[in-house]
Amino acid sequence: MAFPKDFLIGAATAAHQVEGNNIHSDYWAQEQLPHTSFAEPSGLACDHYNRFEEDIRLLAEAGLNAYRFSVEWARIEPEEGKFDEDEIEHYRRVIACCKAHGVEPIVTLMHFTSPVWLIRKGGWESESTVEDFRRYAAYVTEQLGGELNYICTINEANMGLQLAAIAKRFTLMAQQAAKKAKSAEGTVQVGMNFEKMMENMKFAAAENAAVFGTPQPQIFVSSRTPEGDELVFRAHQAAKEAIKALYPNIKVGITLSMHDCQALPGGESFADAAWDEEFRHYLPYIEGDDFLGVQNYTRTQYGPEGQLPAPEGAELTQMDYELYPEALEHVIRRVHEDFHGDLIVTENGVAVSDDSRRVEFIGRALKGVENCLADGIPVKGYMYWSLMDNFEWQKGFSMTFGLIAVDRNTMERHPKPSLAFLGSHR
Ligand code: BGC
Repeated sequence: MAFPKDFLIGAATAAHQVEGNNIHSDYWAQEQLPHTSFAEPSGLACDHYNRFEEDIRLLAEAGLNAYRFSVEWARIEPEEGKFDEDEIEHYRRVIACCKAHGVEPIVTLMHFTSPVWLIRKGGWESESTVEDFRRYAAYVTEQLGGELNYICTINEANMGLQLAAIAKRFTLMAQQAAKKAKSAEGTVQVGMNFEKMMENMKFAAAENAAVFGTPQPQIFVSSRTPEGDELVFRAHQAAKEAIKALYPNIKVGITLSMHDCQALPGGESFADAAWDEEFRHYLPYIEGDDFLGVQNYTRTQYGPEGQLPAPEGAELTQMDYELYPEALEHVIRRVHEDFHGDLIVTENGVAVSDDSRRVEFIGRALKGVENCLADGIPVKGYMYWSLMDNFEWQKGFSMTFGLIAVDRNTMERHPKPSLAFLGSHR
């Protein structure tokens, strides 16, 4: 079955992971700390800030018709309440470039990185963040809304609770040898460097206090309390209201990181609780949204004792979790049981060095999407993560998720066969 004519097939990036020199953000600050948990700093990243035209051209030439990217809050509002028009102008050019190539821009307002000033005010556990995020969303929409059909407010709004859950296990592991801690990294769908975090904890507190005014800065990707979890979704609702007040036709949604939570006999209650926490308890906050961004990378299995490691002999990705593209179809079907609006796969991808494994992954994942469409599930698009090899947060540049390789010395782009393969589905 071919995808419908208006189906969006694209690729995703996030500003901090590709642009370079995001100097006013909390991540940039953390990367510079002497005892940072980051394997390396983001630095120039992929220099996408200067090379976006080439990157969007490559995407379009391969046949893709959508590009999901984020605008960087710390660039746009480097000081509280002071907006930088030159930076908005930059994103206006990125959007215009998409359009010139017949590519639908899907803009994310917040993809993990926040301005340092926000974190100094208490970050993602502080009530004032709801209003700060609303004001930023309103400004971006006022400036760029006329050019946009899709906005994702917050990327993986549920990430903080997932981290809180593994922080519990992490505390246990902290008592064991640092080496053993590595086995937990593959249980979260984002680049975390737990081994280094543990070594550095004692020094990091003082260094964080000097930069953020607190030893435990509440950046977006940190353990969330239940109150913080709710606050993130209220920030989404406030932003959505602000966007709709200006441009009611823009389709607004949030994105969630979701595992395919599978129960082995005796593991049903664990799998169900995990799904509740990752997805179901957010329904009251997102029910009226225009779409939900589905982000999935793998499955997790549960037995009578709780979460299980990847099955014996399973193929693992560079991220240490299982290569299992069928997870996407399962997650879409499960989400659709409770959320009846449109779905866009805003991220799905695999970190492997052998690109033929990526081709295989994409082929199987898209087959799953086709099955969902055949059953009438309203999936409107598929964005592969990521357009190019990039800065995988604490893990640095070592993870290769990209459809395009980037030579880190020259910044030259080298499209991989998987880019054309993805494009051939249109
Ligand atoms: C995030 C991306 C990240 C990707 C791969 C998602 O959690 O949105 O920023 O690079 O997964 O780990």
